[in-house]
Amino acid sequence: MGALLIKNAKLRDFQKLQDVLIKDGKFVRIAENIQGEGVATVDAAGNLTLPPFVDPHVHMDAVLSCGDLSRPNRSGTLLEAIDIWGERKPLLTKEILKKNAREVVKWYIANGVLRVRTHADCSDPTLLTVESLIEVRDEVRDLIDIQVVAFPQNGIFTSTEGEGLLRRALEMGADCVGGAPHIEYTREDGVRDVECVYQYAEKFDRMIDIHVDETGDTHSRFVEVMAKENIMRGWQGRAAASHTTAMHNYNNDYAFKLLGVLKKADMNMITNPFDNSVLQNRTDGYPRKRGHTRVDELLEKGVNVCIGHDSIMDPWYSMGKGNMLAAANLLAHTAHMNGHDQLLELMDMITHRSARTLGIEDKYGIKEGNPADLVILDAKDEAEALRLTSECLYVLRKGKVICRTTPALRTIDTSEIKENVDFKL
Ligand code: FE2
Repeated sequence: MGALLIKNAKLRDFQKLQDVLIKDGKFVRIAENIQGEGVATVDAAGNLTLPPFVDPHVHMDAVLSCGDLSRPNRSGTLLEAIDIWGERKPLLTKEILKKNAREVVKWYIANGVLRVRTHADCSDPTLLTVESLIEVRDEVRDLIDIQVVAFPQNGIFTSTEGEGLLRRALEMGADCVGGAPHIEYTREDGVRDVECVYQYAEKFDRMIDIHVDETGDTHSRFVEVMAKENIMRGWQGRAAASHTTAMHNYNNDYAFKLLGVLKKADMNMITNPFDNSVLQNRTDGYPRKRGHTRVDELLEKGVNVCIGHDSIMDPWYSMGKGNMLAAANLLAHTAHMNGHDQLLELMDMITHRSARTLGIEDKYGIKEGNPADLVILDAKDEAEALRLTSECLYVLRKGKVICRTTPALRTIDTSEIKENVDFKL
């Protein structure tokens, strides 16, 4: 494989523009003014250059299902979405599942997202969703790294088959064990759900990512059960708690105690701004709470928090295009995170913090020796990238440019003004 030299890159943690030399698919040197006689060159032109974006939480078995076999979600509620998904499941074929997942892989690449964790509903006896997403994962691995979570969407113990299906999904090759304790019929079954996930993760040597407390119900307190299992079993830093929206509504005395336990458990938290801002707290009336976990308090406590996309055009959320900058932009508003330092934090939440959650930190980032995956954004810094939800001018995978974007050209052409507009100062 040949060499490639990136010139004039604005890298995090460097004051001056840097050159990045790539050979054999890896970063080999980062320095100012690297001479590259005869080496192919890409000029980053002072633009922000980052490791690829990470989406740590999506449901690729449901993506693009709006308007396909589904009726529209007229109310926009979680309950109607669950009904629609239930109607759709018997109509799914492997061909449809793989076609939609492959299409979204292209959207991710165009948005500079090259690391993804997807959930695959394993509550159907055919396990078609798990089989399809595992096949897509393996077919596209030269372009994008995908982890598949065996996700018991209906809960593990709401049927006699649930536990067996979860085990079969792991035997088929799912990378992570998922759960849904708040979906179980009773509090006791919710606790069993969490314990069961840890047992299977240990037995199959897989990672853990549980949909937990995805409700506004203040009595839904299963993330504390996860934290306890993490501490007692020595899983610190290796398990992810997805959504935890109920935490938003907990009373502060309980929430402050919980924050300390989550810190001790070294939990990875995944918040999902798109879905949770429209699905949660719909029954509040007014005032209406925001439906996100306690992002700023968790970060202040030193707990790892990252951002997921969750849905892309499905019954739960009919919009979205796999753009992590857009997800971070939304959270800046809904989590009160528009301060300068918080904007930098948001950028970490769609890159390094997510990589930590996925357990891929050691090979992620623009560092000598790492796989040469990066994005060059059409922005001078993080604040501009978030404000404009900037395009990725270049997306590199293992040292090769796999996507280029030409930003839109807007030209005002009047007798008074003849100018291009790019919304930049
Ligand atoms: Fe989810």
